[in-house]
Parts: sequence; structure tokens; C-alpha cells
Amino acid sequence: MDSLEQLVATAVQDFMAAQDDAAALENAKAKYLGKTGQITELMKGLGKLDPEQRKAQGALINAAKGSIEAALTARRDALADAQMQSRLNAEAIDVTLPGRGRAGGGIHPVMRTWERVEEIFRSIGFDVADGPEIENDWTNFTALNSPENHPARSMQDTFYIDGNDGDGKPLLLRTHTSPMQVRYARSHTPPIKVIAPGRTYRVDSDATHSPMFHQVEGLWIAENISFADLKGVYLNFVKAFFETDDLQVRFRPSYFPFTEPSAEIDIAFGSGPNKGRWLEVSGSGQVHPNVVRNFGLDPEKYIGFAFGSGLERLTMLRYGINDLRLFYEGDLRFLKQFN
Ligand code: PHE
Repeated sequence: MDSLEQLVATAVQDFMAAQDDAAALENAKAKYLGKTGQITELMKGLGKLDPEQRKAQGALINAAKGSIEAALTARRDALADAQMQSRLNAEAIDVTLPGRGRAGGGIHPVMRTWERVEEIFRSIGFDVADGPEIENDWTNFTALNSPENHPARSMQDTFYIDGNDGDGKPLLLRTHTSPMQVRYARSHTPPIKVIAPGRTYRVDSDATHSPMFHQVEGLWIAENISFADLKGVYLNFVKAFFETDDLQVRFRPSYFPFTEPSAEIDIAFGSGPNKGRWLEVSGSGQVHPNVVRNFGLDPEKYIGFAFGSGLERLTMLRYGINDLRLFYEGDLRFLKQFN
């Protein structure tokens, strides 16, 4: 039947004309298969025919309907495929491009020094301790033989912080790691042999001072630990740290409230960029009897030494760095050199 074949052909054309828009295809479908669609109308017209004709005509209309439905499904699938394909193209990954790579992290040079120092002192039997960076006045100053209003306190320009220790005394960012001598000694029994590396804070900023810096405290207290032991331990430490025997260590008389006698420790290298210059690396001394008493120990029985060295200082000497601020600028070109 010509007109039915024609109808199928037009429907197929309409379906093909519907492009990537799903609504266009559904509209075209309605034209033929919807409630008032042409196929539906033809079906309705069957009622007027006599039974013989109705049967024959019905079969033809059903066949046409089947063709139209098949064309519709095919078009739907084709449109869905095309859509998927264009999405795949849009999201295509060029697997031949080189990857962005993962930036490798590295250890900060000062941390590297920190780890080395721990390793060296552990190897000669020192414990490693850690303590608070917010200190109370007593532990940071008074217990270390710096009484209130004593001029020696002004050797360290201090960051005080809001709040107090409960006794009406201020809290502060520890100005050195020396309060760890007090904390550790009061909670351990002699012989006491400890280092305490950590962050310290002072109101200070120039090429060799940063408001936050690192120290390592050392403390050895027993019944017979002398200044000679300090010399031996420290010399052994710097030789291991700088990986050379080609250096000299000098103890230059100095003053700290918590040691007596006190010395600044200088080292001179036999070769390298700092050859022949004396460079200060540490404060040190025999622990003052008043401080031993504040440890809760009898100064008639217990004696020993303490030192406090700057980790930045040791790092600068080891690598020949001349400005301490480089450590804190986060410039990868600088930091990468140590990894
Ligand atoms: N705490 C001192 C400082 O920061 C260093 C030091 C430590 C000196 C231990 C003597 C003994 O300057």
C-alpha cells in the first residue's frame, strides 16, 4: 500500500532530521505514534471497515507501525552513541603526553642537622627529650639562676604572651632550650645524660638572628662530671658532625647565670671556606650549684655540664651558608640543594 509506505518513509526522514536534540526526536515520534499521531489515527479508522478489510488493513498498519518503531529505536541508539562519542572525544586523555610528575619532598637543612645531632648523641648514650615551647617564667629564667629583675634576663629579648602560669607570673615563648635542663632533671634521677633539641624564640632579626630558631641543649649530671668531660664530649660531637678531625675547639670564658664557670665554644677549621677563623657554636659551662639545687639535687653531690648550641649555626657552618634568613624564606632553589 503506497500511502503507508510513504508514511514510513516520511517518519524515517523525520527521525533522521532530529539531530543531537532528544526533544526533537520525541516530537517526531508523537507525530506518528502519539495519541493523535498518524498511525494512531489510522488505527482508529479501522473501526469503520468491515471485518475482512479490517483484518487485512490492520495487519498492514501494524507492520508500518513496527517499521516506524524500529526506525525510532535505531535513531535513538544512534543519537546516544554519537553523544557518547563526542563526550569521549572531549574528555580524551593524551596518554602520550609526559606526566606532570610528583614533586619529591625533602628534609629542611636545619631538620637534617637536628636528626644528625640526635643520632650522634644517642650513639654516646644520651637520651633525647622534648618539651613545651610556651614556658613559664620560673623554668625559663628563675630556676636557671636568673632572678626577677636581674640584668642578665635582658640578654634575651623575650616574647611574652597573654595569660599567666597560675602564680601571676607571665608565660613566654622559651628563649632557649635550657628550661629543658630543669624539666628533665626534675623528672629523672642521676646520672642524667640528655639532649633536648627544639624551637626557641627571641625578639631578634638580622642575617644571623631569626625570631624563631633552633637550639640543642645538652646536660650531663652525675657525681663526677667535669669540664674536661664537656671538652671531650663536645670535641667528639663536632668531629662527628662536621665529619672531619681537622678542626680545633676552643673554650672562651663567658658568662651565663646558670653555669659557673661558663664558656663560649668556638671552632676553627683547618681547611675549607672557614679555614683558620674561630666561629662560635655554643654556650656551655659547669652547671651552677643553685641550678643543681633547683633540679631537686644536692649540689655537694651532683655536678656536671650543660651546653646550648644553635642548630642554624651548625647548619650554616656545615654547608657554608652566610645568611640565616635563607632557611625561612621557603625558596625551593635554596632548599633543593640539600636534598
Ligand atoms: N641557653 C644559653 C643561650 O641560649 C646557652 C647555654 C646553654 C649556655 C647551656 C650554657 C649552658 O645562650
